[in-house]
Amino acid sequence: MQALTSTTSNINMEQISNETIKTIYQRRAVRKYKATLVEPSLIEQIIDAGRMAPSAINKQPWKFYVVSNKETISTFSKEIFRAAFIDTIKSGVAHVIKTAKDLMHFSNRSFHLHVDDVVFHGAPLVIFISSSKQNEWAELDVGMCAQNMMLAAKSMGIDSCPVGLAKFAAHAKSYSKLNVPATHRINLAVIFGYGNETPEIHVRIKNNVVYID
Ligand SMILES: Cc1cc2nc3c(=O)[nH]c(=O)nc-3n(C[C@H](O)[C@H](O)[C@H](O)COP(=O)(O)O)c2cc1C
Repeated sequence: MQALTSTTSNINMEQISNETIKTIYQRRAVRKYKATLVEPSLIEQIIDAGRMAPSAINKQPWKFYVVSNKETISTFSKEIFRAAFIDTIKSGVAHVIKTAKDLMHFSNRSFHLHVDDVVFHGAPLVIFISSSKQNEWAELDVGMCAQNMMLAAKSMGIDSCPVGLAKFAAHAKSYSKLNVPATHRINLAVIFGYGNETPEIHVRIKNNVVYID
């Protein structure tokens, strides 16, 4: 696991002794990966950590779709990016500018580093997560589930990045490969692998708390 430093943020890493909190601070959105595969037993532990997330009325509305074939990931990446781009164009000018900016933010470095994989950043493992369309809390549940997975992964030395663009998977030609039930939609994907970069910590906004007497 990477060494803790206090050079890049308003967080004083040296004062943190609790292992869970350290892992929370150490997790970064990683967008450059080594080719090393994630062992199947670790994949299972990551998914199990996701299953342990809280969910509204204990519905556990998530399903996981594990993709580790390089070609399949690359194909999904191209098809999803195309679908996101078309959606952007169709959505009108204001939305185009905002979303195009977001798309560039999401895939900025990836454009230069992984021309074959602008969405999944060359990661060797993609886990799509779907949830029930009928459940109004499902997206929140999936967010918690994904965070559990990313923290569990980090605690085992595996890096990750959430990929919201994966919500366009339903418009990808390869979507049927995932066998997502008609009652479900893909909310998110999380990519995993052994990172080949150590991103700086984005300084966190602090003036967002209201204490009430
Ligand atoms: C719901 C959600 C969707 C995201 N989608 C993408 C994405 O499509 N592509 C990407 O590269 N990063 C994506 N990110 C990662 C964020 O850009 C990243 O978490 C943020 O910049 C903060 O950086 P940090 O995770 O290293 O603290 C997403 C994050 C969240 C929570």
